[in-house]
Amino acid sequence: MSANFTKCDLKSSNLYYHGMTPKNSFSTGRSTTSLEVRRSLPIFPFREDLLRAITQHQILVIEGETGSGKTTQIPQYLMEDVRLHSRRNEIGCTQPRRVAAMSVAARVAEETGVKLGNEVGYSIRFEDCTSERTVLKYMTDGMLLREFLTEPDLASYSVVIIDEAHERTLHTDILFGLIKDIARFRSDLKVLVASATLDTERFSCFFDDAPVFRIPGRRFPVDIFYTKAPEADYLEACVVSVLQIHVTQAPGDCLVFLTGQEEIEACCEMLQERCRRLGSKIAELVVLPIYANLPSDMQAKIFSPTPPGARKVVVATNIAETSLTIDGIIYVIDPGFCKQKSYNARTGMESLIVTPCSRASANQRAGRAGRVAAGKCFRLYTAWAFKHEMEETTIPEIQRTNLGNVVLLLKSLGINDLIHFDFMDPPPHETLVLALEQLYALGALNHLGELTKMGRRMAELPVDPMLSKMILASEQCCSEEVLTIAAMLSVNNSIFYRPKDKVVHADNARMNFTVPGGDHLVLLNVYNQSGFSTQWCYENFIQFRSMRRARDVRDQLEGLMERIEVEVVSSLEDSVPIRKAITAGYFYHTARLSKGGYKTVKHQQTVYVHPNSSLFEEQPRWLIYHELVFTTKEFMRQVIEIDSGWLLEVAPHYYKSKELEDSSSKKMPRKQGKTKDELG
Ligand code: CDP
Ligand code: MG
Repeated sequence: MSANFTKCDLKSSNLYYHGMTPKNSFSTGRSTTSLEVRRSLPIFPFREDLLRAITQHQILVIEGETGSGKTTQIPQYLMEDVRLHSRRNEIGCTQPRRVAAMSVAARVAEETGVKLGNEVGYSIRFEDCTSERTVLKYMTDGMLLREFLTEPDLASYSVVIIDEAHERTLHTDILFGLIKDIARFRSDLKVLVASATLDTERFSCFFDDAPVFRIPGRRFPVDIFYTKAPEADYLEACVVSVLQIHVTQAPGDCLVFLTGQEEIEACCEMLQERCRRLGSKIAELVVLPIYANLPSDMQAKIFSPTPPGARKVVVATNIAETSLTIDGIIYVIDPGFCKQKSYNARTGMESLIVTPCSRASANQRAGRAGRVAAGKCFRLYTAWAFKHEMEETTIPEIQRTNLGNVVLLLKSLGINDLIHFDFMDPPPHETLVLALEQLYALGALNHLGELTKMGRRMAELPVDPMLSKMILASEQCCSEEVLTIAAMLSVNNSIFYRPKDKVVHADNARMNFTVPGGDHLVLLNVYNQSGFSTQWCYENFIQFRSMRRARDVRDQLEGLMERIEVEVVSSLEDSVPIRKAITAGYFYHTARLSKGGYKTVKHQQTVYVHPNSSLFEEQPRWLIYHELVFTTKEFMRQVIEIDSGWLLEVAPHYYKSKELEDSSSKKMPRKQGKTKDELG
């Protein structure tokens, strides 16, 4: 099979720019050439103008092509400028993605010649790499949001940069409202909103017509190619396309956009395997993955220069769309998909779904090929699909996600009237109402919608309300185990290692961890057995790094227990209290086995046990799932068996005993339609 392309002339599209001569000489030995490299970035000629504009205006929107130097340079300019920055206060720069926060902080530390974590650091959930000396802090947008809890006016900052604003993540959108509010009474605070060339007028409008500073782009033409017919298997098509480029096209690195870790790993393995088979018939192909859970030393590799004669291919999630810029990319392969959260406000079901990306995304992706020279973008879909099947832009996350987390946070900040919160794009009314209802059912809010003591304690934990409820429900009985489970769940998709050539061994190793009760207990078992030995992890097909991360997360959660006065005790061998605590947090996620398979209790939605689950064969009558993932169908990932009676114990205000009656145990099936009516 091969991918067939037709070249499409897109002269009128914004992908054609007049390129300037490439000045970049991104060679090795960064620190010596660092200044030269910094000066070659498109933003550099505007340094003075930009600083002047920042001095003159409290809020400034900055628009610039991806890769022009916004993220790495602007904070450095500020640090170097005494007008704008006194050493007493910090400069904070938010990033929607953890990987980006870590990676740009490392880059800037290197450029400024300091050790990461000293003057330049980063802060992401469960990982604080800053110190007393830190003046420039890169952080995820979620972390800055949480800082409002301890410092509602962000007094320790002199400048806040909301970077990658165009990504419109939930946390960035909430930050917009909060920061606009505090800027009114903190006239000394500078606010910069940095964005790729998208949406900047809207940002300006939202921030009371703040001026927009435009950094002129430097882009080279990108030729776009489409497939003649839709590709049935885009992974295979990617692999074929990379190899075709490798053998037929001029030198230049290649960037492939896929939707997540599993796909990326599969693609990398396929590429490596085929290169091995071709051996010396082809030039060297350096295959590198990049995704959120990739360990940081591996992440850094994507930036190392390609060896002479070889070609680098980076296989990435949409992190490489605008957050990270890899130099030397000439070819982009875009299957046109991304993984997105989708939320059904009627049922409250949230799911990760692979969906076609937007045209705006596709154009950003293509643009990555034209940074250093004229490039080519191979779209693995038809020109027709581009025009007719893709949305113009991506819907902001706030309109397609569960709001429980931010509603709890806003309530903790004393913001009670959420309907009138200053949203750039308001969330759907029913999503807001549902979040309030869910927090009420979890005991975080009272019937007046006010924060309860439980809610206050829940908000102290930097995790989703359901997870914090689970942890709080474990106090006095099994917090020891539940903390471990919470930590393992936070890294859960990368615990088990399943290399393509050892699938049987890996699956057997996994089976050996099976314990009665379900997947959460399997995770607990793995954690307890591991002893954090690399050897042990290797032999048992467990990812050592994920285990180390789980241990870090667990340590931090345990540290927080004291603050919310939870004593850490063990349930010893008994799994019932553990499963009850999980039920107390996740009672929304209950599914019952009925004739055709599993159905969610409240909304009768058909769901399936994930084939990787320890309960895949067993099929117990009542299940609680951790999350839903939609691939070919709606799969429940991480499930445990429960007793339906527990639901009445832990969520009496949510479940009625009638709806938990075990219809399948009765001889006579109920009358058609009745069950559904009853469940409303
Ligand atoms: O934020 P913006 O997209 O405008 O650009 P940037 O992220 O500041 O990137 C400026 C330059 O730094 C690009 O040439 C990147 O390739 C480079 N960079 C890097 O080499 N390593 C990193 N970890 C981050 C950026
Ligand atoms: Mg950036």
